[in-house]
Amino acid sequence: MTRPVLRLKPPTGWMNDPNGFIHSGGRYHLFYQHNPYAPRWGRMHWGHAVSDDLIRWEHLPVALRPDSFWDGALGCFSGSAIERGGELYLLYTGVSILGQYQMLARSGDGVSFSKRRRPVIGRRLLPPGGSGRAFRDPKLFERDGAFYCVVGGDWKPEAPAAGGRSRAVRGTQVSLYRSDDLVEWRYVGPLLRGVLPDGGVFECPDYIRVDGKDVLIASPMHLPRNDEGEFENLHSTVYLPGALDLERGLFEPDDGPGVYRELDGGTDFYAAQTTTAPDGRALMVAWMQMWKRTMPTEAEGWAGAMTVPRELSYEGGRLRQRPVRELERYWADTAGAADFVLDGTASVPGVRGNVCDIELTVDMMGASEFGLRLFIAPGDGPDRSCVTLRYDRKNASLVLDRSRAAVRIASLDKGEAGCDVRTTRLKLSGALLRLRLLLDRNGLEVFADGGAVSMTSLVYAPEDHTGIELFSDAPVRVVELRRHAIEGVGTERSPR
Ligand code: FRU
Repeated sequence: MTRPVLRLKPPTGWMNDPNGFIHSGGRYHLFYQHNPYAPRWGRMHWGHAVSDDLIRWEHLPVALRPDSFWDGALGCFSGSAIERGGELYLLYTGVSILGQYQMLARSGDGVSFSKRRRPVIGRRLLPPGGSGRAFRDPKLFERDGAFYCVVGGDWKPEAPAAGGRSRAVRGTQVSLYRSDDLVEWRYVGPLLRGVLPDGGVFECPDYIRVDGKDVLIASPMHLPRNDEGEFENLHSTVYLPGALDLERGLFEPDDGPGVYRELDGGTDFYAAQTTTAPDGRALMVAWMQMWKRTMPTEAEGWAGAMTVPRELSYEGGRLRQRPVRELERYWADTAGAADFVLDGTASVPGVRGNVCDIELTVDMMGASEFGLRLFIAPGDGPDRSCVTLRYDRKNASLVLDRSRAAVRIASLDKGEAGCDVRTTRLKLSGALLRLRLLLDRNGLEVFADGGAVSMTSLVYAPEDHTGIELFSDAPVRVVELRRHAIEGVGTERSPR
């Protein structure tokens, strides 16, 4: 197995959610849920990496460890970062035998952190209907000189269920808190409430303003699959465009109550976290993995990685995602072809690789299917392993299929039907299909239609599985195909 080149992964051991994503002290910091001792989830630490450009990361020493009563049970769960008075603050969830509460840590040098001894959002500040058993993942933001955070958790509706009999409904909510100094907090109101099967909660809530639009993000557990083919993974990450009222603690979603839009249609995308760059860009990174799957890299002593950070924009009523533009600095050795007709299967000289960035525009003409085979094993013959991305015009959908990948990944939860194939709605406005594909050894990030749709999936293929082919069921015109190799990201720098 090979380690991804572009994407942040733990130096050793386990990684899940991105935490504390921020630009501070002249560089980007990305913390993450980390078990340094084994490639499996365990008592949570905060791993820490820094970067000048979001592409080359340097590992720093572990930032938070479970070493106090308040994080003594399961550790330091997810949270976020903010700067105040030249210092870097982390707000995170401590999991003790008493439950889950929000804790604060502070650093003057951005490397070593000291924790406040007691929770800053503790039992006294639980939201109405919250039990404190599930109350986690605070995401900080600042507005007009005040600090706010959104926190996910459980929710028990106060009123008895219809019919007069009180039923034990276990719901979930995202609560808004406000503070002037990060230490004294007050509860403002519930931004989002819902009921998920299995009593799941909205994990890792996030809020960001993108191009003037308020966007709420959350990772609901066990969201049932819908007719659009959304929410096929065990847990999902969703976004809701809307209007945030900070005074009253209300969020009015544009789509109405109970409607969630899936943020990514692939197999491996969870717990996304955003930050705003110094130049104003809205950035997002997510854990490129799904819970309860086989993880082939365990055998190498590590597991879990991030997506490449993405830029967000809000256009035409949709959130769009694109890999950060800093990636283009590492483009090298561009190969490709323009303006040719494809009918059947073909490969294009120079267009191959497993660490590369591909831009493709295709005029579908009269065809109903066009696609690419990626990570193709060497040799010939129809049975070579590969991963397929295909546009199905009749069903207006993009289909990512890793059932023929060199290493199969299995779902370990019966709540998930399988994890080989994912389908995402993609309605073209004309006949032009625009794709961008980022291949990074064991992963594929797909962006379609200017980032209006994305699909993120892990793919485990040996280092020499670098073949790329195009196929169609009738003539299509390839308007442009460019494959940029990615060079100069270098090897990983280890903790000092
Ligand atoms: C989401 C999550 C969070 C929690 C963390 C624990 O993936 O379950 O809700 O804080 O992981 O590692």
